[in-house]
Amino acid sequence: MRPISGFSKMTKDEKIKWLSSQFEGEAASLVKTMTDFWHQDQSIQKKFDEFSENTLTNYYLPFGIAPNFMINEKLYAIPMVIEESSVVAAASLSAKYWLSRGGFKAKVHSMTKVGQVHFLWQGDTEKLQRFFETKKQDLTQSVKDLTFNMEKRGGGIEDLELVVMTDKIENYYQLKLKCRTQDAMGANFINSILEEMSRVWKRLVGHEASFQPFERELEVVMCILSNYTPDCVVEAWVECPIEDLGEVNGMSASDFARRFATAVNIAKVDPSRAVTHNKGIMNGIDAVILATGNDFRAVEACAHAYAAQDGQYRSLSDVSLVNGSFRFSLKLPLALGTVGGLTTLHPLVKTSLAILENPSAEELMKITACMGLAQNFGAVKSLVTTGIQKGHMKLHLLNILTRLGADDNQVEEAKIFFSDKVVSFTEVRNFLQSNNLAQ
Ligand code: MEV
Repeated sequence: MRPISGFSKMTKDEKIKWLSSQFEGEAASLVKTMTDFWHQDQSIQKKFDEFSENTLTNYYLPFGIAPNFMINEKLYAIPMVIEESSVVAAASLSAKYWLSRGGFKAKVHSMTKVGQVHFLWQGDTEKLQRFFETKKQDLTQSVKDLTFNMEKRGGGIEDLELVVMTDKIENYYQLKLKCRTQDAMGANFINSILEEMSRVWKRLVGHEASFQPFERELEVVMCILSNYTPDCVVEAWVECPIEDLGEVNGMSASDFARRFATAVNIAKVDPSRAVTHNKGIMNGIDAVILATGNDFRAVEACAHAYAAQDGQYRSLSDVSLVNGSFRFSLKLPLALGTVGGLTTLHPLVKTSLAILENPSAEELMKITACMGLAQNFGAVKSLVTTGIQKGHMKLHLLNILTRLGADDNQVEEAKIFFSDKVVSFTEVRNFLQSNNLAQ
């Protein structure tokens, strides 16, 4: 591989040609793969090219649907974008299971988002605090142009705080902005406000006659929203009498409830298990986040920080078995948007939102949390009953049979044969060959 300058200025064809020239043996297949995945409609392709930079082609992921989600008495079919097998199947099974047991419930506790102006200032902290209190109003007024439209939609600035951090880093303070961004994820809104406010704040401090000359110096280090949104929180839960859980994969309702609760409690106390447990939750959440064009990196970063909020990484979900009732719940921050960003640009994002009947951000938070809970329920249910491999092996077998070119008849015979055996590529090929079934 050789370095290159001016790559971003090249046309797409030139970029592909340059890349393929770096891998002589692979050149032809690399060009073919890149171009095979271009969209035939050039106007659509152009949109995709413009989402990011140095785009060569499109990267496909499966887009599926998990039907039968009853959430707060309303039925949804939830779009999911995910490459991992069994995730959509598990979500669908959980949704069906809870459909006959009252469905999912969800509630948004708060929708406050946060941004920070990080700055350095030298002087008497109390003097700065008093000065801030006298200027707080001016600061929020100074960004009225930026907040005007959001206020019309019921959002805007909720609070502004001066945070003293001088015990952590010398001379370090923050302006901490709290706001509501309604149906927008709000990153641009918050960042624009912060940058404007930081300029005004620097000017106000710089002109303050009661400050010593050195106190009139304020250095803005950076202005950026925080992806940690512990006050933008949603809770989802399912609940039924323990006996209504029925027999679960051959296990009595009470045994299942007890083992299920133990598994969740293990994830409450053991970080090693908690990470895997929460990964299962994120299987469902990320799939909805991707389908609806939201920022999965932000959601992931925030969810895991929240899971460690008391200093130890723990399960995001909880279970209680009280008075003969089974209650399984999930509480986490989700800063989502249903307007702006990709929502109107990406045709499949637009379609996903349409399938969800164009939800508000608040509704999408509820839907997404229910999906996370459903996914977690499905995973833990398998783990404490049959084990996780049973379902996975069915799909694994089908994948191998497809790779070996098996027809419908061969697939049926293999399914019966492997129903109680371990599946591996070699074993499946041997089975097809020994029965003269291999292609
Ligand atoms: C696999 O993608 C997710 C699980 O490992 C989650 C869990 O263990 O709870 C099955």
